[in-house]
Amino acid sequence: MRKFHPLAVAAEKQGKKIYHLNIGQPDLATPPAYFEAVRSFDKRTLAYDASPGNPGLIEAIRRYYKRLDVDLDPRDILVTTGGSEALLLTCLSILDPYTEVIIPEPYYPNYTTFVHAAGGVIRALPTNPWEGYRYAKRERIESLITKNTRAILITNPGNPTGVVLDQAEMRMIADIAKAHDLYLICDEVYREFCYDEKFGVPTMARFADIHENLVIVDSVSKRFSACGARVGCVVTKNKELQQAILKFCQSRLSVATIDQVGAEALYSVDPEFFRRSKEEYRVRRDTLISGLRKIPGLVVEEPMGAFYVMASLPVDDADKFQHWLLESFEDNGDTVMFAPGAPFYETPGKGINEVRIAYVLNREDLSRAIEVLARGIARYQREVMGVSPKALG
Ligand SMILES: Cc1ncc(COP(=O)(O)O)c(C=O)c1O
Repeated sequence: MRKFHPLAVAAEKQGKKIYHLNIGQPDLATPPAYFEAVRSFDKRTLAYDASPGNPGLIEAIRRYYKRLDVDLDPRDILVTTGGSEALLLTCLSILDPYTEVIIPEPYYPNYTTFVHAAGGVIRALPTNPWEGYRYAKRERIESLITKNTRAILITNPGNPTGVVLDQAEMRMIADIAKAHDLYLICDEVYREFCYDEKFGVPTMARFADIHENLVIVDSVSKRFSACGARVGCVVTKNKELQQAILKFCQSRLSVATIDQVGAEALYSVDPEFFRRSKEEYRVRRDTLISGLRKIPGLVVEEPMGAFYVMASLPVDDADKFQHWLLESFEDNGDTVMFAPGAPFYETPGKGINEVRIAYVLNREDLSRAIEVLARGIARYQREVMGVSPKALG
């Protein structure tokens, strides 16, 4: 995605306004509690915090999980520098060279870096746009398990697809992990963003019978609209794994002390904050989906969670289309950016005409962005692909 940055800078220099549908950074205000706690920090020396995490923050996380009906011991929680470090340390602790992790594709591209850093190999579980990217099929998952498989890694709710697993699907995946003695790594950083009440606030941590297999990756970034706080955690009851991850935590000494003070305050925020944030994203999702469905030839399913959707565009190549949108197109001075789909896939050649769209713009900007996208597609089809939109629609 970063390769488009220089083109975006050049487009802005030419006076174009870019609607950013490409980034996963929430735009809602961070709860003031974070900043108040940081301002009230009154120690004379900014010392390292404890390697497993600040005890006050761990207690706050424990209370948060209690509200989700999950009982944790303080030792089950290791505070990390965002969900990113939680993923990296988990991979480094679980994987040996050439061991395998099953991940439904398309997936969050940084998983590749974390798995490869540990010498592991990704076995992609294929999905497709016309099935709404749903992947919870027992035979499909089990067919990928080999003697080298160590873990299944899922993102629930999903980035980039917005897919949310229902209870039966979660149970089925938990059963597979248990039956084959695999780690189940659940990246639940978007847990709070499920738009159908039937999902509640989903977490695999409620399945007590798979605690030895389970690793939850968590973060304050999306939940509290606080990506810059860089605070996340690993939650596991597996003692051997706790020890392995703790060694990495000790070697990197501590997560930023002040960020943890702020994060502790975030966990005291009234849950009404989640309700309001979720409602705002739900309205944006509805705006986005109804706009996208009016574009002829575009394939999209309504996402049930997170703040992304994957769509298949009626263009030959989303990457090429993005270049063209930045370099050769404008609609009244406006253009648009999305994340081309191919980097979200492990399998070469997949996702070429797909894109991930993040709905982290306010409603008015979102509506305008979709209008610009629709006009961009129509003109690209005419001028670059040489076909009439009708023929494609
Ligand atoms: C699925 C997923 N997991 C983990 C992360 C890492 O986030 P952070 O390190 O800010 O917690 C992200 C960030 O976009 C994400 O989308």
